[in-house]
Amino acid sequence: MASQTISMSATARVAARASLRSSRDTSRIARLPKSAARRAASSARLAVRAAGAAVDQETGIKKMREGIKEAADENLLTPRFYTTDFDEMEQLFSTEINPNLDEAELVAILQEFREDFNQKHFVRNDSFKKAADGITGESRRIFIEFLERSCTAEFSGFLLYKELGRRLKKTAPVCAEIFTLMSRDEARHAGFLNKAMSDFNLALDLGFLTKNRQYTFFKPKFIIYATYLSEKIGYWRYISIYRHLQENPNDQLYPLFQYFENWCQDENRHGDFFTACLKARPEFINDWEAKLWARFFCLSVYVTMYLNDHSRTEFYESIGLDTTQFNMHVIHQTNKTTAQIFPQVIDTYNPKFKEYLDNLRDINAKLSKAQSPMEKAPLIAGFAANLLGVALMKPVDSGSIDFVEDVNSPAFMY
Ligand SMILES: [Fe+2]
Ligand SMILES: [Fe+2]
Repeated sequence: MASQTISMSATARVAARASLRSSRDTSRIARLPKSAARRAASSARLAVRAAGAAVDQETGIKKMREGIKEAADENLLTPRFYTTDFDEMEQLFSTEINPNLDEAELVAILQEFREDFNQKHFVRNDSFKKAADGITGESRRIFIEFLERSCTAEFSGFLLYKELGRRLKKTAPVCAEIFTLMSRDEARHAGFLNKAMSDFNLALDLGFLTKNRQYTFFKPKFIIYATYLSEKIGYWRYISIYRHLQENPNDQLYPLFQYFENWCQDENRHGDFFTACLKARPEFINDWEAKLWARFFCLSVYVTMYLNDHSRTEFYESIGLDTTQFNMHVIHQTNKTTAQIFPQVIDTYNPKFKEYLDNLRDINAKLSKAQSPMEKAPLIAGFAANLLGVALMKPVDSGSIDFVEDVNSPAFMY
């Protein structure tokens, strides 16, 4: 997974919680009851703090121990770790149970993953450490935060795909191998980012995170919508940053971004695999319920990115990007890509859409400063009203439809 934007909005979390059920999954983490996992995580954090965790002199960032950064606190907008109902996943990917699965297409996808085009791509050189040393002060803190969010999001993909690869081995060996190879890619991405963090002397303890971070449960169908979008938006984020820096080499603060061109092809391939999964389940992309979920996930992913990126515009400005322009470009492109398979998408070209996004951004900024529940309540109500505003906008029908001849119809853009 590439994107840090898979985190769900408040409404999405409610939906996720509603679908929470006692799964029989055998992954070590998922078997921990939620409350126990939370207790374990918080006592581990306390123990670390009690041990006298130091602070990085230059940035003020808390350290877990020498060279290791204390993970940022989780909130609604931080990248999450996911777990799912693995028994239902087995049924979803079994060709016996699900004859719509196009075995030939899956084998072709698997072949591509086996080729391993990026096997030799993620090789570092001496310029990394030197460039990191040159990033100082507030920029340094923001840069580390960007690396942490990206690393956590990539690592989240690694954990989920790895477990799916393990669980599907017997019933769906082709898909299982695809998941395992995708987890290989995500491990590389996360590892490369974590190495970058160590250039700043603040790497993440990924083993500690695996054991102590909370896991959000999503039903398989929602995992597929969310990961599809996450991979595609990740592709557009990486390629847009890459292209911008190719045109503006003076903004190339750190060599990491030079790797984004091949890197984002991994994300694109991952997304294409989920396209094949969606095509295999017509009920995921055909009926009114599918249309609703399609728009809901688009909305969650776009809003989460917009709020996240706008609350750290300094980072995007430091590499010469205009945050709003960059975000709108990524949203439009992702929406067009998504329209190829989702049955409905949001009309992102409608000027009202950006108005709602800007309102949400402003309210979010005020919310982060609000102290009392009295201050927060009207802001939360305003936030919900604006989310509803986008949800009620006239959607664009998409997916397998004939092209639209009316040039004034929003669907003409897709
Ligand atoms: Fe990915
Ligand atoms: Fe990735």
